[in-house]
Amino acid sequence: MESSLKCLVNDDSRYQESFKLFLERSSEHKCMQDFIHNLLPDVLASIGDGKSHLNVIGVGSGAGEIDLEMLSELRLKHPGVTVDNEVVEPSAQQLHNYRVLVSRKPDLDYIKFNWNKMTAGEFEENWKAKKMTKKADFIHMIQMLYYVKDPEATINFFHSLLNKNGKLLIILVSGESGWRRLWQTYRSQLSNTELSQYVTTQDVKAFLESKGVSYQNYELPSQMDITECFAEGDEKGELLLDFLTEVLNFSKTAPPDLKAGVMELLRHPDCSVESNGRILFNNNLGAIVIDPLKTGC
Ligand SMILES: C[S@@+](CC[C@H](N)C(=O)[O-])C[C@H]1O[C@@H](n2cnc3c(N)ncnc32)[C@H](O)[C@@H]1O
Repeated sequence: MESSLKCLVNDDSRYQESFKLFLERSSEHKCMQDFIHNLLPDVLASIGDGKSHLNVIGVGSGAGEIDLEMLSELRLKHPGVTVDNEVVEPSAQQLHNYRVLVSRKPDLDYIKFNWNKMTAGEFEENWKAKKMTKKADFIHMIQMLYYVKDPEATINFFHSLLNKNGKLLIILVSGESGWRRLWQTYRSQLSNTELSQYVTTQDVKAFLESKGVSYQNYELPSQMDITECFAEGDEKGELLLDFLTEVLNFSKTAPPDLKAGVMELLRHPDCSVESNGRILFNNNLGAIVIDPLKTGC
């Protein structure tokens, strides 16, 4: 039976609030930063073919913190380059936050920011309507494929924009994470949207392999402290529960048996570990770096 629960992403303000709290309670950005500073530099070094100008596309950039860190690593690997950076982000608030962040950072003169307040799908439509032929050296989609209707089509489109030696970076929750366990068990009872909320790197890898596309995979360990979710009536705990289930006001609107089942699974060893009285949810991420399509010789 289809769920009658309301989807969190339909309330942008609560979604953004819950995402902010999730970032505070998890090592999400820390684990991405470790990846960006330790592993990504070698990937970035391999792009561009010695060109003095690089095209970058960020899809679902949010407030841009992660994007700017990647751009600074890119510059370290390619000193003296100029960068054209397309930012694709549908949330006006996030785009505003990104612009504020850029205005406060010195030394970004080498980057030209093109602000696209739109979804990945709208960007694709625009791109095709304008018959754009520009290619990109580095494209990234970090924690955003959950919000498109057809992740495979989205990957195909952006993959087709890669230059020779370009790279497409996708970061999503790992197939080994607590998220996958939760979604495997409860997706049909939680979801009623056309979105692909429940996609993991395991799905993306299977898709790429079926197409014979080459890629590298990195597992990024991460945790999220969900202890507050178990304090009945705790506002922050309820906000985190909304983020975990992707359901708006989950605590107040979910049927009692569903709520009890979800709460039990969340603290089950399949999803979480308990340490020093805290419940730490397995938020492991996966980073997939995709090579360009091989063109005929
Ligand atoms: C979980 S946040 C990730 C933000 C950022 N990449 C990070 O990791 O901090 C997902 C972002 O994708 C954006 N988004 C939602 N639907 C989208 C779509 N259809 N196309 C592009 N971006 C989308 C949201 O507004 C949000 O900023």
